[in-house]
Parts: sequence; structure tokens; C-alpha cells
Amino acid sequence: MLPCVCWLQRILILLSSVLWTRGENCPATCMCPDPHTVDCSGRGLTRLPNEIPLDVRRLLLADNLIPRIPSDFLVLYSDLVYLDLRNNSLSHIEPGTLSTSSRLVFLDLGSNNLTEIPKGTFGESRSLIKLRLGNNPYLSLVNEDAFLGLTSLRELELERNALSTLHVGALSQLPSLRAVRLEGNPWVCNCNFASLFAWLMENSHKLPNGVEGMECSIPMDGRRVSLTQLSKDSFRECQATLTLTDLLIIIFSGISVSVVAIMTSFFLASTVHCFQRWSKGTKGDEEESEE
Ligand SMILES: *[C@@H]1O[C@H](CO)[C@@H](O)[C@H](O)[C@H]1NC(C)=O
Ligand SMILES: *[C@@H]1O[C@H](CO)[C@@H](O)[C@H](O)[C@H]1NC(C)=O
Repeated sequence: MLPCVCWLQRILILLSSVLWTRGENCPATCMCPDPHTVDCSGRGLTRLPNEIPLDVRRLLLADNLIPRIPSDFLVLYSDLVYLDLRNNSLSHIEPGTLSTSSRLVFLDLGSNNLTEIPKGTFGESRSLIKLRLGNNPYLSLVNEDAFLGLTSLRELELERNALSTLHVGALSQLPSLRAVRLEGNPWVCNCNFASLFAWLMENSHKLPNGVEGMECSIPMDGRRVSLTQLSKDSFRECQATLTLTDLLIIIFSGISVSVVAIMTSFFLASTVHCFQRWSKGTKGDEEESEE
């Protein structure tokens, strides 16, 4: 009987040590296929799991209901190279979430509920190569400097968002950009769009499907046209932009003309009035002398 107990004890120790190391390295609800990967995809998580090992490199959190990531998240997980947060409930990314020291190469924030990408959201993450921000149905604002400092960024996805306009600076400031997806947005082809249109014409090789897949709506009647139907000439009216000085000169000269006109008519009216009184006066004198 005694050897049997010893044997059982050994198995228990072995089992508990296996469970202990598993528990130490892998969050309870997740899978860890290799020492640097934590896969918590599709677990119905409503927040980030607590027990993620600090040396994680690939963190897969797609298809959950996570509403926010703390701004110091990548400071804490500074070895993180690959972060997949696709199809969650993120509505806001705090500025500075990615920092210069971040090693992140791949970040997927697609299919979330983001509304805005403010200036400095991604800090100056010089390692970031691929950024996915597509399929955020309320994303209507991307700041001109939203991607400033992402010097290695090669692929940017902004497709199927709610963008009606995008400052061309957001794209032209990316020195390594090879591919950008912009299709499926409700672009409006007004004068704001003119400079983006010019950039797209010059950089159509960076659009995976060219400009074929892109449409914009005409401000007057909302009719949608394919960008292939437009040319630089379509935006000709936008080139004659007025500076503030031009505007002031126009307003000021308008006012001066009106003042001069009023003064002239006042002068004319008084002259006519005087003349009438004078002629009446002389008539009266004549009548008086006749009597
Ligand atoms: C998004 O995640 C939910 C679970 O939160 C899942 O049911 C759904 O299929 C996912 N959608 C896609 C397009 O993967
Ligand atoms: C997404 O955002 C919209 C408006 O900003 C809100 O009405 C909606 O409830 C949000 N959905 C989720 C799943 O958070």
C-alpha cells in the first residue's frame, strides 16, 4: 500500500507543477501555443485579461467585447510585436498609446467602434509596419497628424469607415507607405477633397485596387461618381482660392463703393433740392413784382 501512495503523490506533484506553470504563463481563459504567444480570441472577454505574461510578443484578442486599452498598456508589455484587437468594442484610443520605444510591428484595430483618430494617437512608433483601422462604421475624423512619426508604416487600412474627407497630410507624411486602403468611405467630392484627389492620382500605385473601387458623392445632388470619372479639371474651381487679404480687400472696396454712392446721391439730392428752392424763390419774386 505504501508504494502506491508514493506513486500517487509523485503524479500529483507532477500534475500540480504542470498546472502551476500553465497558470503562471497563460491566462486562464486563453491558449498559449508557444512561449511568446497568448491567444484569447473569441472568448467573450469584456476587458483585458489580468494575467498576461509581461514578456508576451504576440497577443491575439480578436472577436471579444473589449471596450478600452489603457494608455500604458504598451509600456507594460514592451516586448509586444503583434497586437490583434480586431472585432472588439473599442470606441476610443487614448493619445500616446504607442510610444517611440514600442516594438509593435502589427496593430489591428479593425471592426471596432472608433469615431476619431486624434493627433498623436500612435506616438512615434517607429517599428509599426502595418496598421489596420478599417470597418469602424463611425470613424469620421482622422487628424492631419494622426500618423505623424510612423516612419516605418508600409500598410494602412482605412476602408469602410465613415470618412467624408481626409487631410492629405495624414498620408503624405508617411515616408514608407506602400499600400493604403480607402475604399467604401462616403467621400464627398468638394474642394476639401481636391488635394486628396490630387494625391491619389499621383499615388494610385499605392491603392491595391487603384482608384476604381473609390467613389465620392457630388455635393449638389448627392450623386455618387467613381473617381475614375473625375480629373483634376473637375476641381478647377477650387484652385482659385481666396486668401484672407483678398477677402478683406473685396469687403473693404465694397464698403467704400457703397459709401461713395450714398454720399454722391446725398450731394445730388441736396443740389436738386437747392436748385428747386432757388427757382421757386425767383418765381415768387416775379409773381410779387407782377402784383
Ligand atoms: C465578432 O466577434 C463576435 C464575438 O464577439 C463574433 O460572434 C462575430 O462572428 C465576430 N465577427 C466577425 C466578422 O468575425
Ligand atoms: C458604437 O458607437 C455608437 C455611436 O458612437 C453607439 O451608438 C453604439 O452603441 C456603439 N456600439 C457599441 C457596440 O459599442
